[in-house]
Amino acid sequence: MKRRIYLNDDWSFTETFTEDFLKEDYEENLTDKNHNLTSVRLPHTCKETPFHYFDESVYQMECGYRRKLFAPNEWLGKQVFMTFEGVAHSCEVFCNGNQVGEHHCGYTAFTVELSRFLNYGKENWIVVKVDSRENQNIPPFGFVIDYMTYGGIYRDVYLEVKQPTHIEDVFVHTSHDFEKETAELTVETSIKLPENASTKEKLRLRYSLRKKDCGYQNTEVRGSQSMDAIMEPMIWQEEVSSSEKVTLHKSTYTVENPSLWDIDSPSLYELKTELISDEAIMDENITTFGFREAVFKTDGFYLNGRKLKIRGLNRHQSYPYVGYAMPESMQKLDADLLKYELGVNAVRTSHYPQSHYFLDRCDEIGLLVFTEIPGWQHIGDDAWKEQAIRNVEDMVKQYRNHTSIILWGVRINESKDDDDFYQRTNEAAHRLDPYRQTGGVRAIKKSNLLEDVYTYNDFVHDGTTRGCEPKKKVTSDNSKPYLVSEFNGHMFPTKAFDKEEQRSEHAIRHANVLDAVMGEEDIAGCFGWCMFDYNTHKDFGSGDRICYHGVMDMFRNRKLSANVYACEQDKEPVLEISSSMDIGEHPGCNRGTIWIFTNADIVRMYKNDRFIKEYSTKASPYRHLKHGPIIVDDFIGDALEKKERFKPKHARELSAAMNLVARGSLSHIPKKIIPTALKLVLLYHMNYAEVSELYTRYIGDWGGTSTSYRFEAVKDGKIVKTLVKEPTRKVHLEANADHTELYEKHSYDTALIRILAKDEHDNILSFYQEPVQLSVEGDIELVGPGVISLHGGMGGAYIRSKGVSGKGILTISAGGVASKKIKFTVTGDNL
Ligand code: GAL
Repeated sequence: MKRRIYLNDDWSFTETFTEDFLKEDYEENLTDKNHNLTSVRLPHTCKETPFHYFDESVYQMECGYRRKLFAPNEWLGKQVFMTFEGVAHSCEVFCNGNQVGEHHCGYTAFTVELSRFLNYGKENWIVVKVDSRENQNIPPFGFVIDYMTYGGIYRDVYLEVKQPTHIEDVFVHTSHDFEKETAELTVETSIKLPENASTKEKLRLRYSLRKKDCGYQNTEVRGSQSMDAIMEPMIWQEEVSSSEKVTLHKSTYTVENPSLWDIDSPSLYELKTELISDEAIMDENITTFGFREAVFKTDGFYLNGRKLKIRGLNRHQSYPYVGYAMPESMQKLDADLLKYELGVNAVRTSHYPQSHYFLDRCDEIGLLVFTEIPGWQHIGDDAWKEQAIRNVEDMVKQYRNHTSIILWGVRINESKDDDDFYQRTNEAAHRLDPYRQTGGVRAIKKSNLLEDVYTYNDFVHDGTTRGCEPKKKVTSDNSKPYLVSEFNGHMFPTKAFDKEEQRSEHAIRHANVLDAVMGEEDIAGCFGWCMFDYNTHKDFGSGDRICYHGVMDMFRNRKLSANVYACEQDKEPVLEISSSMDIGEHPGCNRGTIWIFTNADIVRMYKNDRFIKEYSTKASPYRHLKHGPIIVDDFIGDALEKKERFKPKHARELSAAMNLVARGSLSHIPKKIIPTALKLVLLYHMNYAEVSELYTRYIGDWGGTSTSYRFEAVKDGKIVKTLVKEPTRKVHLEANADHTELYEKHSYDTALIRILAKDEHDNILSFYQEPVQLSVEGDIELVGPGVISLHGGMGGAYIRSKGVSGKGILTISAGGVASKKIKFTVTGDNL
């Protein structure tokens, strides 16, 4: 049974909608002068934007999309539904000039029914008028917003052709008895009945449960069971009298020993629901879900009965150039990056529901999600609030089968108290999903708590202050759970090309807060602000319309701070040093504090191949992180003892003193080294020149042969990663595509190519800002400009398929360095 017919291709787009656009013969009457139509595929942004320095007004418009739709005669007598997954921000849909529906939220899906307006056996015209202006009286608009809101039909559009009697929705929930190893599976199926429903029709529901990707017949799978639920005609007759013509059937089944969905083993199941009338299958629905119990308690978050600290990041759904308009692969990639590159166990979809592709991937890989309604600080008038309530309802109904979602955000992010309004948002969420708890992000301490969990943006840490507030200082009801929904962000915006001290402190501030939260027994966890840099409004950011708040840049290249998160996972080895080891980068040539980021057991440091020191992860000052950053406090090792004229004890004292100075400054010599200095002057008649010469040789790295530092990360006795820092002699470009086999499933496919300028030891060259040329040949196209600058040695490109199968090559070149070529293939379902 083909369920969805995707309609992502063959749209015509205009930036200026006029009433004429609704007319069937619009194209025919176009003159060259007013011919402003372009052919587009969805997902589409109404305006491609530059990387930065552009105004938010550029994407604000009343634009239009139109396409033909052939309605075969077989559709006659059936119901034809058209679903839009995401249109920013308001839209009206027309079929053959008739308005068939409208929607006023840019972040939730909506469905219109075309059946009555279609000409069967003929072509029909579908027109969508889209309003992306920010002066609309709907969330999130009304005041300032710290992110761009873009515009267009930016998610998939598809058709479903159904019998008049069909399944409208299936909602699945599981509850558990962990001791008995059984679960109760509750299924709520809503069935739509036609106006003239015959009360004699015998309807039956059949449910089949299987482990995902295992086949329905596979009985070896533990926990896989088949169930039949007969819906008695009597029940049906009662339901048909409902004015809505929708009947709800709820049943509960016991499943023995199901494989649980957990962050490290996200087992998924599929429930097939068939609606059967007189042995004919009228409709079927497949719901993917996992057996799991997720609950916030007074002292923290529990997954399947086990306490788990949430360690997450906030994610916007934006990308360079195309705003929100990215297809399946790019949505899924972000989930993978969070889980596998950043090593977090959770994400908050700030500040709106995001693509189902992203959520599907979170379900598949075991990434916990806190999702919330659209909005940013501002609460509008009654009409605005009504829309916000609808947004809660739509969010919950559309997303409640995603197992990864553990909490609904039912307040406007960082808004003030409004009890009447928030009673209603809570009621709506609980009514439509009695099983999940609610939260609502606030920036105010002790505000009215109508939700199940107090979720608060804790920006108390400023680099010197404590990492987080204790729970009792923030929440208004200490018996309820508490979760930190944001930290850092605007407290310390940091660019990939900022000076080393800044990048280092950015990383350390993330470590400071994470460590503090992990150390608080009764805080469920926290979400750092944020996953990557994002374009923003004039009121925010660094003046170039970018908020440099990410632990990644806009192309998802990792900044230093990303390592703090990555170190907490164990699958991929991490070894990074906060410094390039070039003293000239620092004020007064003082190295300052250098940090090692690793998830190995130990790190050995060598200088010009001479062993200096072995650092154990236990040496980290961060007590609550599994693998906290470690301070490099020795640049000398036993060199003074072995190579200079001092007695071992004095050599050690002098090394200690010089290492201390190295981290501070020569003009602010720490007092505690004065006794050592005096002793050395008395015993060895040392003078300032000699000290300075020693310092230059062992710490300063001036003159002579260049200094090479080598770091080896050792895990379980094996070297898992090596890092060498020495003066750069040769630059090379590294360009990696996230995938090279493009596949068109429902629409075009896009690949991200992350581009890095690196030295001969693969260290990122943080001050390489050179232009890079991008050119494509073959069956792919480039998204964005053909020449970009790297920022902090990092950049990126997107290429996409063009609706034809074949091959393509992307060439990446920069002056004086060897170019890179990446080959792509394009195939697809319908190519
Ligand atoms: C918060 C807000 C976020 C972002 C962040 C920057 O107040 O919720 O959207 O602006 O600050 O730190």
